[in-house]
Amino acid sequence: MTATCVVGLQWGDEAKGKIVDLLSEQFDYVVRYNGGANAGHTVVVGGRTFKLSLLPSGVIRPNVTSVIGNGVVVYPPRFLEEVEQLQQHGFDLSRTLALSDHAHLIFPYHIEEDRLAESNGDSSIGTTGRGIGPCYQDKVGRRCGIRIGELFHPEHFRERLARIVPFKNRLLAAIANGHVERVRPFDAEALAQEYLGYAERLRPYVRDTCRLLQEAIRNGKRILFEAAQGSLLDVDHGTYPYVTSSSSLPAGIWSGAGLPARYITRIIGVVKAYTTRVGQGPFPTELNDGPDGYGERIRRAGKEYGTVTGRPRRCGWFDAVAVRYTAALAGADEITIMLLDVLSGLPEVKICVEYECDGERTTHFPSDAYELQRCRPIYETLPGWDANISSAHRLADLPTAARRYVDRISELIGLPVSIISVGPDREQTIRLGS
Ligand code: IMP
Repeated sequence: MTATCVVGLQWGDEAKGKIVDLLSEQFDYVVRYNGGANAGHTVVVGGRTFKLSLLPSGVIRPNVTSVIGNGVVVYPPRFLEEVEQLQQHGFDLSRTLALSDHAHLIFPYHIEEDRLAESNGDSSIGTTGRGIGPCYQDKVGRRCGIRIGELFHPEHFRERLARIVPFKNRLLAAIANGHVERVRPFDAEALAQEYLGYAERLRPYVRDTCRLLQEAIRNGKRILFEAAQGSLLDVDHGTYPYVTSSSSLPAGIWSGAGLPARYITRIIGVVKAYTTRVGQGPFPTELNDGPDGYGERIRRAGKEYGTVTGRPRRCGWFDAVAVRYTAALAGADEITIMLLDVLSGLPEVKICVEYECDGERTTHFPSDAYELQRCRPIYETLPGWDANISSAHRLADLPTAARRYVDRISELIGLPVSIISVGPDREQTIRLGS
Protein backbone atom coordinates (compact mmCIF):
# COMPACT_ATOMS: atom_id res chain seq x y z
CA MET A 1 0.00 0.00 0.00
CA THR A 2 2.77 2.41 -0.83
CA ALA A 3 3.69 4.72 -3.65
CA THR A 4 6.93 6.11 -5.04
CA CYS A 5 7.62 9.43 -6.73
CA VAL A 6 10.33 10.26 -9.26
CA VAL A 7 11.05 13.98 -9.26
CA GLY A 8 13.65 16.16 -10.96
CA LEU A 9 15.68 18.31 -8.56
CA GLN A 10 16.96 20.88 -11.08
CA TRP A 11 15.32 22.92 -13.85
CA GLY A 12 13.81 19.97 -15.70
CA ASP A 13 15.22 17.65 -18.35
CA GLU A 14 17.04 15.54 -15.75
CA ALA A 15 16.26 12.37 -17.73
CA LYS A 16 13.45 11.35 -15.35
CA GLY A 17 11.88 9.42 -18.24
CA LYS A 18 14.72 6.90 -18.16
CA ILE A 19 14.38 6.34 -14.40
CA VAL A 20 10.60 5.93 -14.67
CA ASP A 21 11.08 3.53 -17.53
CA LEU A 22 13.67 1.49 -15.58
CA LEU A 23 11.55 1.31 -12.45
CA SER A 24 8.17 0.90 -14.06
CA GLU A 25 8.50 -2.89 -14.39
CA GLN A 26 8.16 -3.00 -10.58
CA PHE A 27 4.92 -0.97 -10.64
CA ASP A 28 1.33 -1.48 -11.69
CA TYR A 29 0.54 2.21 -12.28
CA VAL A 30 2.61 5.15 -13.55
CA VAL A 31 0.94 8.50 -12.95
CA ARG A 32 1.49 12.06 -14.11
CA TYR A 33 0.10 14.72 -11.80
CA ASN A 34 1.26 18.08 -13.20
CA GLY A 35 2.15 20.00 -16.35
CA GLY A 36 1.15 19.10 -19.86
CA ALA A 37 2.82 18.84 -23.23
CA ASN A 38 5.55 21.22 -22.03
CA ALA A 39 7.36 18.19 -20.65
CA GLY A 40 9.54 16.19 -22.95
CA HIS A 41 10.68 12.71 -22.12
CA THR A 42 12.78 10.56 -24.34
CA VAL A 43 12.66 6.84 -23.74
CA VAL A 44 15.09 4.64 -25.67
CA VAL A 45 14.29 0.93 -25.81
CA GLY A 46 16.41 -1.47 -27.84
CA GLY A 47 17.65 1.38 -30.01
CA ARG A 48 14.11 2.68 -30.68
CA THR A 49 13.54 6.24 -29.46
CA PHE A 50 10.14 7.44 -28.27
CA LYS A 51 9.64 11.14 -27.70
CA LEU A 52 6.66 11.77 -25.44
CA SER A 53 5.46 15.02 -24.02
CA LEU A 54 2.05 14.26 -22.55
CA LEU A 55 1.82 10.53 -22.00
CA PRO A 56 3.60 9.13 -18.91
CA SER A 57 6.95 7.45 -19.66
CA GLY A 58 5.58 4.15 -18.29
CA VAL A 59 3.25 3.85 -21.27
CA ILE A 60 5.88 1.76 -23.07
CA ARG A 61 5.46 -1.10 -20.52
CA PRO A 62 2.60 -3.44 -21.45
CA ASN A 63 1.74 -4.45 -17.85
CA VAL A 64 1.58 -0.93 -16.50
CA THR A 65 -1.51 1.27 -16.40
CA SER A 66 -0.55 4.85 -17.26
CA VAL A 67 -2.60 7.62 -15.71
CA ILE A 68 -2.86 11.29 -16.62
CA GLY A 69 -4.13 12.84 -13.41
CA ASN A 70 -6.51 15.75 -12.84
CA GLY A 71 -3.58 18.14 -12.26
CA VAL A 72 -2.38 17.78 -15.85
CA VAL A 73 -3.51 20.13 -18.63
CA VAL A 74 -4.35 18.36 -21.86
CA TYR A 75 -4.27 19.46 -25.49
CA PRO A 76 -6.37 16.76 -27.19
CA PRO A 77 -4.63 16.78 -30.62
CA ARG A 78 -1.31 16.19 -28.87
CA PHE A 79 -2.72 13.39 -26.72
CA LEU A 80 -4.23 11.65 -29.74
CA GLU A 81 -1.08 12.10 -31.81
CA GLU A 82 1.09 10.45 -29.12
CA VAL A 83 -1.40 7.61 -28.69
CA GLU A 84 -1.45 7.01 -32.45
CA GLN A 85 2.35 7.15 -32.70
CA LEU A 86 2.60 4.35 -30.13
CA GLN A 87 -0.21 2.36 -31.72
CA GLN A 88 1.74 2.42 -34.97
CA HIS A 89 4.63 0.78 -33.10
CA GLY A 90 2.32 -1.98 -31.92
CA PHE A 91 1.45 -0.69 -28.44
CA ASP A 92 -2.18 -1.29 -27.49
CA LEU A 93 -3.19 1.40 -24.99
CA SER A 94 -6.93 0.78 -24.92
CA ARG A 95 -6.87 -0.88 -21.49
CA THR A 96 -3.68 0.60 -20.07
CA LEU A 97 -4.12 4.35 -20.41
CA ALA A 98 -6.44 6.46 -18.25
CA LEU A 99 -7.11 10.17 -18.63
CA SER A 100 -8.74 12.11 -15.80
CA ASP A 101 -12.17 13.58 -16.50
CA HIS A 102 -11.13 16.48 -14.24
CA ALA A 103 -7.99 17.41 -16.19
CA HIS A 104 -8.33 20.82 -17.84
CA LEU A 105 -8.45 21.25 -21.58
CA ILE A 106 -6.00 23.41 -23.48
CA PHE A 107 -7.60 25.28 -26.37
CA PRO A 108 -5.86 27.01 -29.29
CA TYR A 109 -6.64 30.39 -27.67
CA HIS A 110 -4.44 29.37 -24.72
CA ILE A 111 -1.58 28.69 -27.11
CA GLU A 112 -2.21 32.02 -28.83
CA GLU A 113 -2.27 33.82 -25.48
CA ASP A 114 1.03 32.17 -24.52
CA ARG A 115 2.57 33.22 -27.85
CA LEU A 116 1.37 36.83 -27.65
CA ALA A 117 2.37 37.25 -24.00
CA GLU A 118 5.83 35.87 -24.74
CA SER A 119 6.31 38.26 -27.65
CA ASN A 120 6.05 41.15 -25.18
CA GLY A 121 9.88 41.18 -24.81
CA ASP A 122 10.42 42.37 -21.22
CA SER A 123 7.90 40.09 -19.55
CA SER A 124 8.96 36.96 -21.44
CA ILE A 125 9.44 33.84 -19.33
CA GLY A 126 10.74 31.74 -22.19
CA THR A 127 7.82 29.31 -22.04
CA THR A 128 7.48 26.27 -24.25
CA GLY A 129 4.60 28.03 -26.03
CA ARG A 130 2.18 25.16 -25.39
CA GLY A 131 -0.49 27.25 -23.67
CA ILE A 132 0.28 25.77 -20.25
CA GLY A 133 0.26 28.99 -18.19
CA PRO A 134 -2.94 30.43 -19.74
CA CYS A 135 -4.76 27.12 -19.22
CA TYR A 136 -3.79 26.94 -15.53
CA GLN A 137 -4.80 30.61 -15.18
CA ASP A 138 -8.26 29.68 -16.44
CA LYS A 139 -8.41 26.68 -14.13
CA VAL A 140 -7.67 28.76 -11.05
CA GLY A 141 -9.76 31.71 -12.29
CA ARG A 142 -12.73 29.29 -12.73
CA ARG A 143 -14.83 31.32 -15.17
CA CYS A 144 -13.12 30.10 -18.33
CA GLY A 145 -11.67 26.74 -17.34
CA ILE A 146 -13.14 23.66 -19.07
CA ARG A 147 -12.51 20.10 -17.94
CA ILE A 148 -12.35 17.00 -20.11
CA GLY A 149 -15.56 15.62 -18.58
CA GLU A 150 -17.51 18.58 -20.02
CA LEU A 151 -16.81 17.33 -23.54
CA PHE A 152 -19.38 14.61 -22.95
CA HIS A 153 -22.21 17.10 -22.43
CA PRO A 154 -22.30 18.70 -25.89
CA GLU A 155 -24.98 21.34 -25.24
CA HIS A 156 -23.36 22.52 -22.03
CA PHE A 157 -19.92 22.47 -23.72
CA ARG A 158 -21.19 24.55 -26.68
CA GLU A 159 -22.78 27.09 -24.33
CA ARG A 160 -19.61 27.47 -22.32
CA LEU A 161 -17.48 28.06 -25.40
CA ALA A 162 -20.04 30.51 -26.79
CA ARG A 163 -19.56 32.60 -23.63
CA ILE A 164 -15.81 32.18 -23.30
CA VAL A 165 -14.55 32.60 -26.88
CA PRO A 166 -15.72 36.23 -27.46
CA PHE A 167 -14.06 37.16 -24.17
CA LYS A 168 -10.86 35.40 -25.24
CA ASN A 169 -10.87 37.22 -28.59
CA ARG A 170 -11.05 40.56 -26.76
CA LEU A 171 -8.34 39.47 -24.36
CA LEU A 172 -6.02 38.42 -27.19
CA ALA A 173 -6.54 41.75 -28.95
CA ALA A 174 -5.69 43.55 -25.70
CA ILE A 175 -2.51 41.51 -25.18
CA ALA A 176 -1.51 42.27 -28.78
CA ASN A 177 -1.88 45.92 -27.82
CA GLY A 178 -3.83 47.03 -30.88
CA HIS A 179 -1.74 45.05 -33.38
CA VAL A 180 -4.77 43.27 -34.83
CA GLU A 181 -2.64 41.70 -37.55
CA ARG A 182 -0.97 39.65 -34.80
CA VAL A 183 -4.24 38.18 -33.56
CA ARG A 184 -6.13 35.19 -34.90
CA PRO A 185 -9.77 35.47 -33.71
CA PHE A 186 -11.53 32.22 -32.81
CA ASP A 187 -14.98 31.02 -33.74
CA ALA A 188 -16.84 29.40 -30.85
CA GLU A 189 -18.93 27.01 -32.94
CA ALA A 190 -15.98 25.86 -35.06
CA LEU A 191 -13.99 25.18 -31.87
CA ALA A 192 -16.92 23.33 -30.33
CA GLN A 193 -17.20 21.09 -33.37
CA GLU A 194 -13.46 20.43 -33.43
CA TYR A 195 -13.37 19.48 -29.73
CA LEU A 196 -16.58 17.44 -29.80
CA GLY A 197 -14.91 15.51 -32.61
CA TYR A 198 -12.00 14.75 -30.27
CA ALA A 199 -14.42 13.72 -27.54
CA GLU A 200 -15.32 10.41 -29.15
CA ARG A 201 -11.65 9.55 -29.70
CA LEU A 202 -10.79 10.44 -26.11
CA ARG A 203 -13.76 8.60 -24.60
CA PRO A 204 -12.13 5.15 -24.29
CA TYR A 205 -9.45 6.61 -22.01
CA VAL A 206 -11.45 9.02 -19.84
CA ARG A 207 -11.95 7.89 -16.24
CA ASP A 208 -12.40 9.10 -12.69
CA THR A 209 -8.68 8.61 -12.08
CA CYS A 210 -8.76 9.64 -8.38
CA ARG A 211 -11.10 6.74 -7.69
CA LEU A 212 -9.02 4.46 -9.88
CA LEU A 213 -5.89 5.25 -7.86
CA GLN A 214 -7.59 5.03 -4.49
CA GLU A 215 -8.95 1.59 -5.42
CA ALA A 216 -5.53 0.60 -6.67
CA ILE A 217 -3.88 1.51 -3.39
CA ARG A 218 -6.60 -0.34 -1.43
CA ASN A 219 -5.93 -3.42 -3.57
CA GLY A 220 -2.22 -3.31 -2.79
CA LYS A 221 -1.16 -2.14 -6.25
CA ARG A 222 2.17 -0.39 -6.64
CA ILE A 223 2.03 3.19 -7.89
CA LEU A 224 4.82 5.32 -9.36
CA PHE A 225 4.32 9.07 -9.71
CA GLU A 226 6.23 10.85 -12.42
CA ALA A 227 6.78 14.58 -11.90
CA ALA A 228 7.01 16.75 -14.99
CA GLN A 229 9.49 19.66 -15.10
CA GLY A 230 12.01 20.13 -12.30
CA SER A 231 11.59 21.28 -8.72
CA LEU A 232 13.28 24.61 -9.50
CA LEU A 233 10.37 25.26 -11.89
CA ASP A 234 7.72 24.59 -9.21
CA VAL A 235 5.26 27.49 -9.13
CA ASP A 236 5.62 28.01 -5.37
CA HIS A 237 9.18 26.99 -4.58
CA GLY A 238 10.99 27.47 -7.88
CA THR A 239 12.80 30.53 -9.19
CA TYR A 240 9.61 32.58 -9.45
CA PRO A 241 8.48 34.09 -11.81
CA TYR A 242 10.68 32.03 -14.13
CA VAL A 243 8.83 28.82 -13.35
CA THR A 244 6.06 26.74 -14.82
CA SER A 245 2.45 27.10 -13.64
CA SER A 246 2.07 23.86 -11.70
CA SER A 247 3.38 22.13 -8.58
CA SER A 248 6.13 19.91 -9.87
CA LEU A 249 7.32 18.96 -6.38
CA PRO A 250 5.74 15.82 -4.87
CA ALA A 251 3.42 18.17 -2.96
CA GLY A 252 1.46 18.36 -6.23
CA ILE A 253 0.50 14.68 -6.01
CA TRP A 254 -2.26 15.06 -3.45
CA SER A 255 -4.06 17.75 -5.42
CA GLY A 256 -2.99 16.66 -8.91
CA ALA A 257 -3.81 12.97 -8.59
CA GLY A 258 -6.07 12.73 -5.55
CA LEU A 259 -3.88 10.36 -3.58
CA PRO A 260 -3.08 11.43 0.01
CA ALA A 261 0.61 12.12 0.66
CA ARG A 262 0.81 9.54 3.43
CA TYR A 263 0.93 6.75 0.86
CA ILE A 264 4.11 8.09 -0.71
CA THR A 265 6.93 6.32 1.05
CA ARG A 266 9.82 6.65 -1.39
CA ILE A 267 10.90 9.79 -3.18
CA ILE A 268 13.63 9.49 -5.78
CA GLY A 269 15.32 12.78 -6.71
CA VAL A 270 16.80 12.81 -10.20
CA VAL A 271 19.76 15.06 -11.05
CA LYS A 272 21.99 15.49 -14.02
CA ALA A 273 25.73 15.32 -13.37
CA TYR A 274 25.74 18.99 -14.40
CA THR A 275 22.96 21.59 -14.71
CA THR A 276 20.81 22.80 -17.60
CA ARG A 277 18.02 25.28 -17.97
CA VAL A 278 15.74 26.35 -20.84
CA GLY A 279 14.00 29.69 -20.96
CA GLN A 280 14.78 32.82 -18.96
CA GLY A 281 15.73 33.19 -15.34
CA PRO A 282 18.83 33.20 -13.13
CA PHE A 283 21.25 30.29 -13.28
CA PRO A 284 24.28 30.87 -11.04
CA THR A 285 26.50 28.08 -12.42
CA GLU A 286 25.77 28.79 -16.10
CA LEU A 287 28.85 28.52 -18.32
CA ASN A 288 29.07 31.30 -20.85
CA ASP A 289 32.61 30.51 -21.84
CA GLY A 290 32.43 30.70 -25.63
CA PRO A 291 32.32 28.24 -28.53
CA ASP A 292 35.27 26.15 -27.27
CA GLY A 293 34.40 26.41 -23.59
CA TYR A 294 33.06 23.83 -21.16
CA GLY A 295 29.45 25.00 -21.59
CA GLU A 296 29.46 24.28 -25.31
CA ARG A 297 31.31 20.99 -24.82
CA ILE A 298 28.67 19.82 -22.36
CA ARG A 299 25.87 20.97 -24.69
CA ARG A 300 27.33 19.04 -27.61
CA ALA A 301 28.17 15.88 -25.67
CA GLY A 302 24.82 15.88 -23.84
CA LYS A 303 22.80 16.84 -26.96
CA GLU A 304 21.33 19.56 -24.81
CA TYR A 305 18.56 20.82 -27.05
CA GLY A 306 14.95 20.98 -25.83
CA THR A 307 12.83 17.90 -26.57
CA VAL A 308 9.73 20.06 -26.95
CA THR A 309 11.03 23.25 -28.57
CA GLY A 310 14.48 22.28 -29.92
CA ARG A 311 15.98 25.32 -28.13
CA PRO A 312 19.64 24.98 -27.08
CA ARG A 313 19.66 24.45 -23.33
CA ARG A 314 21.80 26.68 -21.13
CA CYS A 315 24.51 24.50 -19.55
CA GLY A 316 26.55 24.83 -16.37
CA TRP A 317 28.27 23.02 -13.51
CA PHE A 318 26.45 21.00 -10.87
CA ASP A 319 24.92 23.28 -8.24
CA ALA A 320 24.87 21.56 -4.86
CA VAL A 321 23.31 24.60 -3.15
CA ALA A 322 20.28 24.43 -5.42
CA VAL A 323 19.93 20.64 -5.23
CA ARG A 324 20.20 20.58 -1.43
CA TYR A 325 17.32 23.07 -1.37
CA THR A 326 15.08 21.05 -3.70
CA ALA A 327 16.01 17.69 -2.17
CA ALA A 328 14.78 19.01 1.19
CA LEU A 329 11.55 20.41 -0.29
CA ALA A 330 10.88 17.22 -2.20
CA GLY A 331 11.67 15.04 0.82
CA ALA A 332 14.00 12.98 -1.38
CA ASP A 333 15.26 9.72 0.12
CA GLU A 334 17.92 9.11 -2.52
CA ILE A 335 19.28 10.57 -5.72
CA THR A 336 20.01 9.19 -9.16
CA ILE A 337 22.80 10.85 -11.15
CA MET A 338 22.15 11.02 -14.87
CA LEU A 339 24.34 11.71 -17.91
CA LEU A 340 27.62 11.18 -16.06
CA ASP A 341 29.17 10.03 -19.37
CA VAL A 342 28.70 13.56 -20.78
CA LEU A 343 31.47 14.87 -18.52
CA SER A 344 34.06 12.33 -19.78
CA GLY A 345 37.03 13.99 -21.43
CA LEU A 346 36.91 17.23 -19.44
CA PRO A 347 40.24 17.95 -17.69
CA GLU A 348 38.43 19.09 -14.55
CA VAL A 349 34.90 19.18 -13.17
CA LYS A 350 33.42 21.72 -10.78
CA ILE A 351 30.69 21.64 -8.16
CA CYS A 352 29.15 24.78 -6.71
CA VAL A 353 29.28 24.36 -2.94
CA GLU A 354 28.32 27.86 -1.77
CA TYR A 355 27.14 31.20 -3.13
CA GLU A 356 28.54 34.62 -2.58
CA CYS A 357 25.67 37.03 -2.25
CA ASP A 358 26.13 40.77 -1.59
CA GLY A 359 29.65 40.12 -0.26
CA GLU A 360 28.62 37.26 2.04
CA ARG A 361 29.02 33.54 1.66
CA THR A 362 25.93 31.41 2.04
CA THR A 363 24.69 27.86 1.52
CA HIS A 364 21.08 29.12 1.47
CA PHE A 365 19.29 29.05 -1.91
CA PRO A 366 17.20 32.20 -2.45
CA SER A 367 14.50 31.06 -4.83
CA ASP A 368 13.31 34.57 -5.71
CA ALA A 369 14.75 35.31 -9.12
CA TYR A 370 15.83 38.88 -8.25
CA GLU A 371 17.84 37.65 -5.25
CA LEU A 372 19.28 34.62 -6.97
CA GLN A 373 20.63 36.67 -9.84
CA ARG A 374 22.94 38.48 -7.41
CA CYS A 375 24.53 35.20 -6.27
CA ARG A 376 27.92 34.08 -7.56
CA PRO A 377 28.96 30.43 -7.34
CA ILE A 378 31.88 29.28 -5.20
CA TYR A 379 33.33 26.15 -6.73
CA GLU A 380 35.19 23.11 -5.62
CA THR A 381 37.30 21.73 -8.49
CA LEU A 382 37.82 18.00 -8.91
CA PRO A 383 39.94 16.12 -11.45
CA GLY A 384 38.16 15.00 -14.61
CA TRP A 385 38.45 11.60 -16.33
CA ASP A 386 39.22 10.62 -19.89
CA ALA A 387 37.83 7.12 -20.20
CA ASN A 388 34.63 6.45 -22.10
CA ILE A 389 32.31 5.21 -19.34
CA SER A 390 29.23 4.56 -21.44
CA SER A 391 29.47 0.78 -21.07
CA ALA A 392 30.12 0.75 -17.31
CA HIS A 393 27.74 -1.57 -15.44
CA ARG A 394 29.23 -1.52 -11.96
CA LEU A 395 30.64 1.20 -9.80
CA ALA A 396 34.02 -0.50 -10.04
CA ASP A 397 33.96 0.04 -13.84
CA LEU A 398 34.16 3.81 -13.33
CA PRO A 399 37.50 5.63 -13.18
CA THR A 400 38.49 6.78 -9.69
CA ALA A 401 37.90 10.44 -10.58
CA ALA A 402 34.32 9.73 -11.70
CA ARG A 403 33.65 7.81 -8.49
CA ARG A 404 35.04 10.67 -6.43
CA TYR A 405 32.79 13.10 -8.27
CA VAL A 406 29.70 10.97 -7.56
CA ASP A 407 30.70 10.51 -3.91
CA ARG A 408 31.21 14.24 -3.46
CA ILE A 409 27.77 15.04 -4.87
CA SER A 410 26.20 12.47 -2.56
CA GLU A 411 28.08 13.91 0.43
CA LEU A 412 27.10 17.50 -0.37
CA ILE A 413 23.43 16.66 -0.86
CA GLY A 414 23.45 14.32 2.13
CA LEU A 415 21.66 11.50 0.29
CA PRO A 416 22.71 8.11 -1.05
CA VAL A 417 23.01 7.60 -4.81
CA SER A 418 20.87 4.69 -6.01
CA ILE A 419 21.43 4.81 -9.78
CA ILE A 420 24.10 6.29 -12.06
CA SER A 421 23.23 6.62 -15.72
CA VAL A 422 26.01 6.54 -18.31
CA GLY A 423 23.97 6.63 -21.53
CA PRO A 424 20.40 6.79 -22.80
CA ASP A 425 19.70 3.07 -23.13
CA ARG A 426 18.24 0.91 -20.35
CA GLU A 427 21.45 -1.13 -20.35
CA GLN A 428 23.67 1.89 -19.69
CA THR A 429 22.87 1.95 -16.01
CA ILE A 430 24.76 1.34 -12.78
CA ARG A 431 22.42 0.30 -9.95
CA LEU A 432 23.71 0.89 -6.46
CA GLY A 433 20.58 0.57 -4.38
CA SER A 434 17.26 -1.21 -4.68
P1 IMP B 1 5.81 26.71 -19.57
O1 IMP B 1 5.74 25.53 -18.66
O2 IMP B 1 5.70 26.35 -21.03
O3 IMP B 1 4.88 27.80 -19.16
O4 IMP B 1 7.28 27.35 -19.41
C1 IMP B 1 7.73 27.95 -18.21
C2 IMP B 1 9.20 27.69 -17.98
O5 IMP B 1 9.39 26.31 -17.68
C3 IMP B 1 10.10 27.97 -19.19
O6 IMP B 1 11.36 28.42 -18.72
C4 IMP B 1 10.26 26.62 -19.84
O7 IMP B 1 11.45 26.53 -20.62
C5 IMP B 1 10.33 25.74 -18.61
N1 IMP B 1 9.89 24.38 -18.86
C6 IMP B 1 8.62 23.92 -18.98
N2 IMP B 1 8.61 22.59 -19.16
C7 IMP B 1 9.89 22.18 -19.11
C8 IMP B 1 10.52 20.90 -19.19
O8 IMP B 1 9.89 19.84 -19.30
N3 IMP B 1 11.87 20.91 -19.11
C9 IMP B 1 12.59 22.03 -18.92
N4 IMP B 1 12.05 23.24 -18.83
C10 IMP B 1 10.71 23.32 -18.93
